[in-house]
Amino acid sequence: MTNPSAWWKKGTIYQIYPRSFQDSNGDGVGDLPGIMQRLDYCRWLGCDAVWLSPIYPSPMADFGYDVSDYTAIDPVFGTMADFDALVSKARRLGLRVLLDLIPNHTSDHHPWFVASRQSRDNPYRDWYVWRDPAPGGGPPNNWQSHFGGAAWEFDAATGQYYLHTYLKEQPDLNWWNPEVRRAIYDVMRFWLDRGVDGFRVDAVAHLIKDAQLRDEPPNPDYQPHQPPYHRQLHVYSMDQPELAEVIAEMRAVVDAYGDRALIGESYLPIERLCRYYGHEGRGLSFPFNFQLIKSPWEAARVRAAVESCEARLSASMWPSWVLGNHDRARVASRIGRAAARAAAVLLLTLRGTPTLYYGDEIGMVDVPIPPEMVQDPCEKNLPGYGVGRDPERTPMQWDAGPSAGFTTGRPWLPVARDYPTCNVAAQRNDPTSMLTLYRRLLELRARHPALHLGEYVPVEQPVEQVMAYVRRSAAEQFLVAINFRPQRCDVLLAGLGLGGRVRVSTHLDRDGERFAGLVRLRGNEAVVVELGENL
Ligand code: NOJ
Repeated sequence: MTNPSAWWKKGTIYQIYPRSFQDSNGDGVGDLPGIMQRLDYCRWLGCDAVWLSPIYPSPMADFGYDVSDYTAIDPVFGTMADFDALVSKARRLGLRVLLDLIPNHTSDHHPWFVASRQSRDNPYRDWYVWRDPAPGGGPPNNWQSHFGGAAWEFDAATGQYYLHTYLKEQPDLNWWNPEVRRAIYDVMRFWLDRGVDGFRVDAVAHLIKDAQLRDEPPNPDYQPHQPPYHRQLHVYSMDQPELAEVIAEMRAVVDAYGDRALIGESYLPIERLCRYYGHEGRGLSFPFNFQLIKSPWEAARVRAAVESCEARLSASMWPSWVLGNHDRARVASRIGRAAARAAAVLLLTLRGTPTLYYGDEIGMVDVPIPPEMVQDPCEKNLPGYGVGRDPERTPMQWDAGPSAGFTTGRPWLPVARDYPTCNVAAQRNDPTSMLTLYRRLLELRARHPALHLGEYVPVEQPVEQVMAYVRRSAAEQFLVAINFRPQRCDVLLAGLGLGGRVRVSTHLDRDGERFAGLVRLRGNEAVVVELGENL
């Protein structure tokens, strides 16, 4: 059983993309001293943990997701002393620090791979997935890379192919090999010993592949607008049963350090994600649940996503919710800024740990990137599919000064044009801003056990544009009502038999308003109402 009061159940995680958060030395790329300057902000906002996307030495073919040394800091981000200082400052502020762990693949510059490709009998050969060409020549099987083209690269020097689920600069480690496992578990211990509070495990479903490397079958539902990776059903290259053992081993490493978190990244549907919790708490603390990113902004669809999660997770499985990250279009661009405020209410009142993507709290939008400024290898390899990830990785908008206060140099990606008005400084003292809304919601969530640990109870509504639910603990109850459309509508409280008072609303102009029987919502409005006879 998992600990019912583990910090990662009660807390909120804030994802920082280090390249884009705060630059301290004018090179146009964010860094650890920059993040350290902004930790007070994260705490002021009301988050409990920061998750840093990769900060390890890397040739940056995939901006840090191609690691060439797992136990050091890339000079572009700073030094190990900077990292230690950041962890101690976080600790002083009461903030936890989570790191990205990238165990599926290394960089092709990693010394393990450099050794592995030297010869077929090198001791590191079996640390990666090497195979002879197919009998008639060509790659050993039909597997495709996420980032375009075959998942195999031929290495002329040794006459074999190596597997890469992502870029050819990101060769896959062979997780069937116990030495690989031990090496990555040592990496985990290295950072746990330095005081980190856990990991977000990258591409976790890919670690174990079918031992026979069988061909993937075609995907009968493939649509031509989808990237080629979707032409196949990935039944052999990922999500294999033996993965449970690997995750249990990782969990044991983390558990030896007490109250630490192990979070996994996977876009699988909820019924398959459930397995990642493992048997009796021996799996992930939770896998990220991306259903809110994948679902259209429609009450019925979102409600179905939430309720399928509620129905499928047993008592020992803790839910999680995410609206955005560094791989997907920003929520304010997907559904519009007005609806994004309602989505904030949803994210921060559902049962389960919320993870916020930096900048979403001020309503940052995707920034169009001119072709000559494209950085993301995904966009470079697959132009025209709309898979580029630069638009959601642009610099954090701190103030109305040059480059939004992100850097004194030339930012590595362009700053959004709306930064003079859409920034932290402008929103900080504005009682109706998106930032104020996030802060108020985070404060309310933290203060009330009903909102962070309480039950989720759906409330039926006669109109299809509304989703309503109650969060309740033994001592308190909150009704959350969200209008998914720009048209006004009424929400019925009748079945609840209680009145209540608004504690927070998207428009931030209804505090304390009392209701009995009916809540009238304006377009895209959401309210959090504390229920009780005597309120
Ligand atoms: C998922 C990460 O979030 C993404 O940014 C990265 O490109 C791939 N995994 C490969 O590591």
